[in-house]
Amino acid sequence: MNLSKPINIALAGSLLLGFLVAIILVLVNRLTVVQISFTWVVFISITVSALSTLIFVFFVRRFLNEKIKVIYGIITNEQVSEIPVINFTDDALAKLTEDSAEYAAVQQKQISELKKQAIFRKEFLGNLAHELKTPVFSIQGYVLTLLEGGLEDGRVNRDFLERALSGVDRISNLLEDLDDIAKLETDRFKLNLVKFNFVKLVRDVFHELETKANHKNIKLKFDKHYEPTFVVADANRITQVLVNLVSNSISYGIVGGETTVSIKNYDKKKILIEVSDNGVGMAKEHIPRLFERFYRVDKSRERNIGGSGLGLAIVKHVIEAHKQTLTVRSTEGIGSTFSFTLETA
Ligand SMILES: Nc1ncnc2c1ncn2[C@@H]1O[C@H](COP(=O)(O)OP(=O)(O)OP(=O)(O)O)[C@@H](O)[C@H]1O
Ligand SMILES: [Mg+2]
Repeated sequence: MNLSKPINIALAGSLLLGFLVAIILVLVNRLTVVQISFTWVVFISITVSALSTLIFVFFVRRFLNEKIKVIYGIITNEQVSEIPVINFTDDALAKLTEDSAEYAAVQQKQISELKKQAIFRKEFLGNLAHELKTPVFSIQGYVLTLLEGGLEDGRVNRDFLERALSGVDRISNLLEDLDDIAKLETDRFKLNLVKFNFVKLVRDVFHELETKANHKNIKLKFDKHYEPTFVVADANRITQVLVNLVSNSISYGIVGGETTVSIKNYDKKKILIEVSDNGVGMAKEHIPRLFERFYRVDKSRERNIGGSGLGLAIVKHVIEAHKQTLTVRSTEGIGSTFSFTLETA
Protein backbone atom coordinates (compact mmCIF):
# COMPACT_ATOMS: atom_id res chain seq x y z
CA MET A 1 0.00 0.00 0.00
CA ASN A 2 1.38 3.41 -1.04
CA LEU A 3 1.44 5.35 2.22
CA SER A 4 2.14 8.70 0.65
CA LYS A 5 -1.51 8.94 -0.44
CA PRO A 6 -3.60 10.50 2.39
CA ILE A 7 -6.51 8.17 1.72
CA ASN A 8 -4.20 5.17 2.18
CA ILE A 9 -2.80 6.58 5.43
CA ALA A 10 -6.36 6.96 6.76
CA LEU A 11 -7.34 3.44 5.65
CA ALA A 12 -4.18 1.84 7.03
CA GLY A 13 -4.60 3.65 10.36
CA SER A 14 -8.23 2.64 10.77
CA LEU A 15 -7.64 -0.98 9.70
CA LEU A 16 -4.87 -1.21 12.27
CA LEU A 17 -7.13 0.26 14.93
CA GLY A 18 -9.96 -2.13 14.03
CA PHE A 19 -7.51 -5.03 14.22
CA LEU A 20 -6.22 -3.89 17.66
CA VAL A 21 -9.78 -3.57 18.97
CA ALA A 22 -10.49 -7.11 17.73
CA ILE A 23 -7.39 -8.43 19.55
CA ILE A 24 -8.35 -6.61 22.75
CA LEU A 25 -11.88 -8.03 22.58
CA VAL A 26 -10.54 -11.57 22.05
CA LEU A 27 -8.18 -11.09 25.03
CA VAL A 28 -11.06 -9.80 27.15
CA ASN A 29 -12.99 -12.96 26.17
CA ARG A 30 -10.11 -15.18 27.16
CA LEU A 31 -8.87 -13.46 30.31
CA THR A 32 -11.98 -12.08 31.98
CA VAL A 33 -15.42 -13.27 32.82
CA VAL A 34 -16.93 -10.95 30.25
CA GLN A 35 -17.95 -12.93 27.20
CA ILE A 36 -18.48 -11.24 23.84
CA SER A 37 -19.77 -13.24 20.91
CA PHE A 38 -17.75 -13.52 17.69
CA THR A 39 -20.41 -11.54 15.77
CA TRP A 40 -20.05 -8.65 18.25
CA VAL A 41 -16.26 -8.73 18.04
CA VAL A 42 -16.51 -8.42 14.24
CA PHE A 43 -19.23 -5.77 14.44
CA ILE A 44 -17.41 -3.63 17.03
CA SER A 45 -14.07 -3.89 15.16
CA ILE A 46 -15.65 -2.94 11.82
CA THR A 47 -17.55 -0.06 13.46
CA VAL A 48 -14.35 1.24 15.13
CA SER A 49 -12.53 0.91 11.81
CA ALA A 50 -15.24 2.77 9.92
CA LEU A 51 -15.56 5.56 12.52
CA SER A 52 -11.80 5.99 12.80
CA THR A 53 -11.56 6.17 9.01
CA LEU A 54 -13.89 9.18 9.13
CA ILE A 55 -11.89 10.74 11.99
CA PHE A 56 -8.56 10.06 10.23
CA VAL A 57 -9.91 11.49 6.99
CA PHE A 58 -10.94 14.61 8.86
CA PHE A 59 -7.56 15.10 10.56
CA VAL A 60 -5.41 14.13 7.60
CA ARG A 61 -7.36 16.50 5.36
CA ARG A 62 -6.91 19.28 7.93
CA PHE A 63 -3.23 18.49 8.18
CA LEU A 64 -2.85 18.55 4.39
CA ASN A 65 -4.74 21.72 3.83
CA GLU A 66 -3.22 23.60 6.74
CA LYS A 67 0.37 22.40 6.99
CA ILE A 68 1.21 21.28 3.45
CA LYS A 69 -0.50 24.29 1.90
CA VAL A 70 1.72 26.51 4.04
CA ILE A 71 4.78 24.77 2.60
CA TYR A 72 3.37 25.27 -0.91
CA GLY A 73 2.75 28.89 -0.01
CA ILE A 74 6.43 29.27 0.85
CA ILE A 75 7.77 27.52 -2.24
CA THR A 76 5.40 29.12 -4.72
CA ASN A 77 5.39 32.49 -2.95
CA GLU A 78 1.59 32.62 -3.15
CA GLN A 79 -1.10 33.39 -0.56
CA VAL A 80 -2.09 30.14 1.19
CA SER A 81 -5.76 30.98 0.52
CA GLU A 82 -5.06 31.01 -3.22
CA ILE A 83 -3.56 27.54 -3.32
CA PRO A 84 -6.15 24.98 -4.54
CA VAL A 85 -7.45 22.45 -2.00
CA ILE A 86 -5.23 19.38 -1.92
CA ASN A 87 -7.17 16.40 -3.17
CA PHE A 88 -7.48 13.66 -0.63
CA THR A 89 -6.83 10.86 -3.10
CA ASP A 90 -3.75 12.57 -4.61
CA ASP A 91 -0.29 11.30 -3.89
CA ALA A 92 0.24 14.53 -1.94
CA LEU A 93 3.50 13.68 -0.18
CA ALA A 94 5.20 12.34 -3.28
CA LYS A 95 4.06 15.44 -5.16
CA LEU A 96 5.30 17.68 -2.34
CA THR A 97 8.69 15.93 -2.41
CA GLU A 98 8.88 16.35 -6.17
CA ASP A 99 7.75 20.00 -6.08
CA SER A 100 10.13 20.95 -3.29
CA ALA A 101 13.06 19.23 -5.08
CA GLU A 102 12.18 21.23 -8.18
CA TYR A 103 11.93 24.40 -6.07
CA ALA A 104 15.30 23.68 -4.44
CA ALA A 105 16.93 23.15 -7.85
CA VAL A 106 15.54 26.46 -9.16
CA GLN A 107 16.69 28.27 -6.01
CA GLN A 108 20.13 26.68 -6.24
CA LYS A 109 20.45 27.84 -9.83
CA GLN A 110 19.40 31.36 -8.88
CA ILE A 111 21.81 31.42 -5.95
CA SER A 112 24.76 30.35 -8.07
CA GLU A 113 23.77 32.91 -10.71
CA LEU A 114 23.63 35.64 -8.04
CA LYS A 115 26.96 34.50 -6.59
CA LYS A 116 28.51 34.68 -10.06
CA GLN A 117 27.08 38.16 -10.55
CA ALA A 118 28.38 39.30 -7.16
CA ILE A 119 31.90 38.07 -8.00
CA PHE A 120 31.63 39.68 -11.42
CA ARG A 121 30.54 43.03 -9.89
CA LYS A 122 33.37 42.94 -7.38
CA GLU A 123 35.91 42.12 -10.08
CA PHE A 124 34.47 44.72 -12.40
CA LEU A 125 34.66 47.50 -9.80
CA GLY A 126 38.16 46.42 -8.78
CA ASN A 127 39.33 46.42 -12.39
CA LEU A 128 37.70 49.74 -13.12
CA ALA A 129 39.25 51.39 -10.06
CA HIS A 130 42.61 49.93 -11.01
CA GLU A 131 42.36 51.18 -14.60
CA LEU A 132 41.34 54.69 -13.51
CA LYS A 133 43.89 54.97 -10.72
CA THR A 134 46.99 55.03 -12.94
CA PRO A 135 46.00 57.90 -15.26
CA VAL A 136 44.27 59.88 -12.48
CA PHE A 137 47.36 59.72 -10.25
CA SER A 138 49.62 60.74 -13.10
CA ILE A 139 47.37 63.71 -14.02
CA GLN A 140 47.28 64.69 -10.34
CA GLY A 141 51.08 64.55 -10.18
CA TYR A 142 51.61 66.72 -13.27
CA VAL A 143 48.97 69.29 -12.27
CA LEU A 144 50.42 69.57 -8.74
CA THR A 145 53.95 70.02 -10.09
CA LEU A 146 52.67 72.71 -12.45
CA LEU A 147 50.86 74.50 -9.60
CA GLU A 148 53.91 74.33 -7.36
CA GLY A 149 56.00 76.37 -9.78
CA GLY A 150 56.30 74.20 -12.88
CA LEU A 151 53.86 76.50 -14.67
CA GLU A 152 56.43 79.28 -14.77
CA ASP A 153 59.22 76.95 -15.83
CA GLY A 154 59.34 77.13 -19.60
CA ARG A 155 61.36 73.89 -19.80
CA VAL A 156 58.63 71.63 -18.33
CA ASN A 157 55.25 73.37 -18.43
CA ARG A 158 54.23 72.31 -21.92
CA ASP A 159 55.62 68.80 -21.53
CA PHE A 160 53.73 68.27 -18.24
CA LEU A 161 50.49 69.57 -19.71
CA GLU A 162 50.86 67.19 -22.65
CA ARG A 163 51.48 64.28 -20.30
CA ALA A 164 48.43 65.24 -18.23
CA LEU A 165 46.41 65.41 -21.45
CA SER A 166 47.53 61.92 -22.44
CA GLY A 167 46.23 60.69 -19.05
CA VAL A 168 42.90 62.40 -19.75
CA ASP A 169 42.82 60.78 -23.21
CA ARG A 170 43.36 57.41 -21.63
CA ILE A 171 40.47 57.89 -19.22
CA SER A 172 38.28 59.18 -21.99
CA ASN A 173 39.04 56.13 -24.19
CA LEU A 174 38.31 53.86 -21.27
CA LEU A 175 34.97 55.56 -20.61
CA GLU A 176 34.06 55.39 -24.29
CA ASP A 177 34.78 51.64 -24.36
CA LEU A 178 32.74 51.08 -21.20
CA ASP A 179 29.89 53.15 -22.58
CA ASP A 180 30.03 51.05 -25.75
CA ILE A 181 29.85 47.79 -23.82
CA ALA A 182 26.96 49.12 -21.74
CA LYS A 183 25.09 50.09 -24.91
CA LEU A 184 25.80 46.74 -26.58
CA GLU A 185 24.47 44.94 -23.52
CA THR A 186 21.11 46.67 -23.38
CA ASP A 187 18.20 45.05 -25.15
CA ARG A 188 17.39 48.37 -26.78
CA PHE A 189 20.63 48.21 -28.75
CA LYS A 190 19.80 48.21 -32.45
CA LEU A 191 22.12 47.36 -35.33
CA ASN A 192 22.03 49.61 -38.32
CA LEU A 193 22.18 46.90 -40.99
CA VAL A 194 23.32 48.05 -44.43
CA LYS A 195 24.87 46.47 -47.51
CA PHE A 196 28.53 47.40 -47.98
CA ASN A 197 31.76 46.24 -49.62
CA PHE A 198 33.72 44.46 -46.91
CA VAL A 199 36.99 44.50 -48.88
CA LYS A 200 36.87 48.31 -48.99
CA LEU A 201 36.16 48.47 -45.26
CA VAL A 202 39.28 46.37 -44.56
CA ARG A 203 41.34 48.69 -46.78
CA ASP A 204 40.02 51.73 -44.87
CA VAL A 205 40.96 50.12 -41.55
CA PHE A 206 44.46 49.30 -42.86
CA HIS A 207 44.78 52.93 -43.87
CA GLU A 208 43.60 54.17 -40.44
CA LEU A 209 46.11 51.97 -38.63
CA GLU A 210 49.01 52.50 -41.03
CA THR A 211 50.92 54.87 -38.74
CA LYS A 212 50.60 52.54 -35.76
CA ALA A 213 51.78 49.61 -37.92
CA ASN A 214 54.67 51.62 -39.36
CA HIS A 215 56.00 52.27 -35.85
CA LYS A 216 56.67 48.55 -35.52
CA ASN A 217 57.38 48.03 -39.18
CA ILE A 218 54.41 45.69 -39.41
CA LYS A 219 52.88 45.01 -42.81
CA LEU A 220 49.06 45.04 -43.08
CA LYS A 221 47.86 42.99 -46.05
CA PHE A 222 45.28 40.68 -47.66
CA ASP A 223 46.40 37.09 -48.32
CA LYS A 224 45.42 37.57 -52.00
CA HIS A 225 43.58 39.93 -54.30
CA TYR A 226 39.83 40.20 -53.55
CA GLU A 227 37.03 41.45 -55.76
CA PRO A 228 34.42 43.61 -53.97
CA THR A 229 32.58 41.36 -51.48
CA PHE A 230 29.25 42.64 -50.24
CA VAL A 231 27.89 41.87 -46.78
CA VAL A 232 24.87 42.94 -44.71
CA ALA A 233 25.94 44.27 -41.30
CA ASP A 234 26.33 47.39 -39.18
CA ALA A 235 29.25 49.00 -41.02
CA ASN A 236 30.37 51.20 -38.10
CA ARG A 237 30.30 48.33 -35.63
CA ILE A 238 32.16 46.00 -38.01
CA THR A 239 34.76 48.73 -38.54
CA GLN A 240 35.12 48.82 -34.76
CA VAL A 241 35.62 45.02 -34.71
CA LEU A 242 38.26 45.17 -37.39
CA VAL A 243 40.05 48.16 -35.84
CA ASN A 244 40.25 46.26 -32.54
CA LEU A 245 41.50 43.04 -34.13
CA VAL A 246 44.05 44.66 -36.44
CA SER A 247 45.13 47.04 -33.69
CA ASN A 248 45.72 44.04 -31.36
CA SER A 249 47.67 42.26 -34.11
CA ILE A 250 49.97 45.29 -34.18
CA SER A 251 50.17 45.76 -30.38
CA TYR A 252 50.97 42.10 -29.80
CA GLY A 253 52.85 41.64 -33.06
CA ILE A 254 56.62 41.45 -33.46
CA VAL A 255 58.68 44.22 -35.02
CA GLY A 256 58.90 43.57 -38.76
CA GLY A 257 55.95 41.15 -38.59
CA GLU A 258 52.76 41.06 -40.61
CA THR A 259 48.99 41.03 -40.24
CA THR A 260 47.03 39.19 -42.90
CA VAL A 261 43.30 39.38 -43.58
CA SER A 262 41.66 36.58 -45.55
CA ILE A 263 38.06 36.14 -46.69
CA LYS A 264 36.62 32.68 -47.34
CA ASN A 265 33.20 31.30 -48.18
CA TYR A 266 31.77 29.82 -44.99
CA ASP A 267 28.43 28.60 -46.28
CA LYS A 268 25.92 29.73 -48.90
CA LYS A 269 24.98 32.85 -46.94
CA LYS A 270 28.14 33.62 -44.96
CA ILE A 271 31.76 34.51 -45.36
CA LEU A 272 34.53 33.82 -42.85
CA ILE A 273 37.00 36.61 -42.15
CA GLU A 274 40.35 35.77 -40.58
CA VAL A 275 42.77 38.28 -39.08
CA SER A 276 46.12 36.52 -38.55
CA ASP A 277 49.40 37.75 -37.13
CA ASN A 278 52.81 36.26 -36.47
CA GLY A 279 53.10 37.98 -33.10
CA VAL A 280 53.60 36.85 -29.51
CA GLY A 281 50.50 34.62 -29.46
CA MET A 282 49.22 33.23 -26.18
CA ALA A 283 48.98 29.99 -24.20
CA LYS A 284 45.80 27.88 -24.53
CA GLU A 285 44.61 28.56 -20.98
CA HIS A 286 43.97 32.24 -21.75
CA ILE A 287 41.65 31.63 -24.67
CA PRO A 288 38.43 30.89 -22.73
CA ARG A 289 38.72 34.17 -20.76
CA LEU A 290 40.03 36.35 -23.57
CA PHE A 291 36.71 38.05 -24.32
CA GLU A 292 35.99 39.00 -20.70
CA ARG A 293 36.14 42.68 -19.83
CA PHE A 294 39.54 43.82 -18.58
CA TYR A 295 41.12 40.45 -19.28
CA ARG A 296 44.76 40.68 -20.32
CA VAL A 297 47.07 37.77 -20.92
CA ASP A 298 50.13 39.20 -19.26
CA LYS A 299 49.38 42.19 -17.07
CA SER A 300 52.96 43.40 -16.88
CA ARG A 301 53.64 43.03 -20.57
CA GLU A 302 50.50 44.90 -21.59
CA ARG A 303 51.19 47.70 -19.09
CA ASN A 304 53.77 49.06 -21.54
CA ILE A 305 51.42 48.66 -24.45
CA GLY A 306 48.67 50.38 -22.51
CA GLY A 307 45.48 48.44 -23.34
CA SER A 308 42.74 48.09 -20.76
CA GLY A 309 41.39 44.73 -21.94
CA LEU A 310 38.05 45.97 -23.25
CA GLY A 311 38.67 45.70 -26.99
CA LEU A 312 37.87 42.01 -27.40
CA ALA A 313 34.84 42.27 -25.07
CA ILE A 314 33.42 44.84 -27.51
CA VAL A 315 34.33 42.64 -30.51
CA LYS A 316 32.46 39.71 -28.99
CA HIS A 317 29.37 41.79 -28.21
CA VAL A 318 29.23 43.20 -31.74
CA ILE A 319 29.63 39.80 -33.43
CA GLU A 320 27.03 38.24 -31.12
CA ALA A 321 24.61 41.10 -31.81
CA HIS A 322 24.96 40.17 -35.49
CA LYS A 323 24.18 36.54 -34.51
CA GLN A 324 27.49 35.48 -36.05
CA THR A 325 30.36 33.42 -34.64
CA LEU A 326 33.75 34.49 -33.41
CA THR A 327 36.68 32.13 -32.79
CA VAL A 328 40.34 32.37 -31.94
CA ARG A 329 43.36 30.16 -32.49
CA SER A 330 46.69 31.08 -31.02
CA THR A 331 50.08 29.56 -30.30
CA GLU A 332 52.55 31.18 -27.95
CA GLY A 333 55.52 32.57 -29.86
CA ILE A 334 53.98 31.80 -33.25
CA GLY A 335 50.93 34.03 -33.65
CA SER A 336 47.16 34.34 -33.43
CA THR A 337 44.18 34.16 -35.75
CA PHE A 338 40.85 35.76 -34.88
CA SER A 339 37.97 34.73 -37.17
CA PHE A 340 34.36 35.81 -37.48
CA THR A 341 31.53 35.26 -39.91
CA LEU A 342 29.33 37.81 -41.68
CA GLU A 343 26.19 37.48 -43.74
CA THR A 344 26.68 38.05 -47.45
CA ALA A 345 24.39 40.45 -49.31
N1 LIG B 1 46.61 39.30 -31.67
C1 LIG B 1 46.94 39.02 -30.41
N2 LIG B 1 48.08 38.38 -30.10
C2 LIG B 1 48.41 38.08 -28.83
N3 LIG B 1 47.68 38.43 -27.76
C3 LIG B 1 46.53 39.08 -28.00
C4 LIG B 1 46.09 39.41 -29.32
N4 LIG B 1 44.93 40.07 -29.24
C5 LIG B 1 44.64 40.13 -27.93
N5 LIG B 1 45.58 39.56 -27.18
C6 LIG B 1 45.61 39.41 -25.71
O1 LIG B 1 44.28 39.55 -25.26
C7 LIG B 1 44.17 40.59 -24.29
C8 LIG B 1 42.84 41.27 -24.43
O2 LIG B 1 42.76 42.00 -25.63
P1 LIG B 1 41.85 43.28 -25.70
O3 LIG B 1 41.92 43.83 -27.08
O4 LIG B 1 40.53 42.91 -25.16
O5 LIG B 1 42.52 44.26 -24.66
P2 LIG B 1 43.80 45.19 -24.78
O6 LIG B 1 44.33 45.16 -26.17
O7 LIG B 1 44.73 44.80 -23.69
O8 LIG B 1 43.19 46.61 -24.43
P3 LIG B 1 42.21 47.51 -25.30
O9 LIG B 1 41.01 47.65 -24.45
O10 LIG B 1 42.93 48.77 -25.51
O11 LIG B 1 41.96 46.77 -26.58
C9 LIG B 1 45.34 41.50 -24.58
O12 LIG B 1 45.72 42.19 -23.43
C10 LIG B 1 46.41 40.52 -25.05
O13 LIG B 1 47.06 39.98 -23.94
MG1 LIG C 1 43.00 45.56 -27.78
